[in-house]
Amino acid sequence: MRLSEKSKNVQDMFDKIADRYDLLNRLLSARQDVRWRKALAQKLPAQADRQGVLYDVACGTGDVMLTVAKLRADYAQIRGFDISFEMLRKGESRPDLGKWIRKANARCSFTQASAEALPAEPASAHAVTIAFGLRNVDNREQALREMFRVLKPGGRVLVLEFFQPHSTLFAKAFDFYFTNVLPKVGGLISDRAAYQYLPASVGSMPSAEAFAQTLREIGFINITQQMWLSGATRLFVADKP
Ligand SMILES: C[S@@+](CC[C@H](N)C(=O)[O-])C[C@H]1O[C@@H](n2cnc3c(N)ncnc32)[C@H](O)[C@@H]1O
Repeated sequence: MRLSEKSKNVQDMFDKIADRYDLLNRLLSARQDVRWRKALAQKLPAQADRQGVLYDVACGTGDVMLTVAKLRADYAQIRGFDISFEMLRKGESRPDLGKWIRKANARCSFTQASAEALPAEPASAHAVTIAFGLRNVDNREQALREMFRVLKPGGRVLVLEFFQPHSTLFAKAFDFYFTNVLPKVGGLISDRAAYQYLPASVGSMPSAEAFAQTLREIGFINITQQMWLSGATRLFVADKP
């Protein structure tokens, strides 16, 4: 796996916070992240033969994969890719899900790989997801092109991510939360530097309009989006023709 300097730093950071990542996610989003991942799972294209193949890029500890495994019996193969070995290792054992995980694990597999070069055949997946991962990826356009490449014709990409909210008041409240509350709580429970990085990474995302345009330029069609928190969290859904 060849990684840029920026991706190596991101990898180190997630390796460091892997142990506390799930706990902090729930705490810092007041469990809203669970609701958003469920909405994503519901928007996966239905597979009548129950042989669906899903690739979850930047899968981390496998939250999307496990949500899909729980809610979507029509997906038989759920493959997660991530650059952080520690996040993947945590995902493979998930003590918080107890016995249930053994059943889910039969359908889930974790591979260390970067979003910009997926170890997957062209046109091999019915759906590709990325949740709260894209803003961390160094070459986002290349990652989106990879997702397009590995999708089957008619396949679907689903991108769950933080964007700038459209209400100014909300944007200010969010900014305060990200710059003041989050690094403090994150620092107490995990690594402060990592939780200082979050606001910077959100700020580095393009506007939702520019993002939709990039999807269009790559070749995706039927682009829609679902929003929460005044557009601060968005789920983009788009199809490969
Ligand atoms: C905020 S976590 C999200 C994890 C998971 N998708 C979730 O919903 O909780 C971001 C993940 O992106 C991964 N990541 C960052 N850059 C990446 C890249 N270029 N390719 C693959 N994974 C990457 C990190 O290692 C980390 O596990």
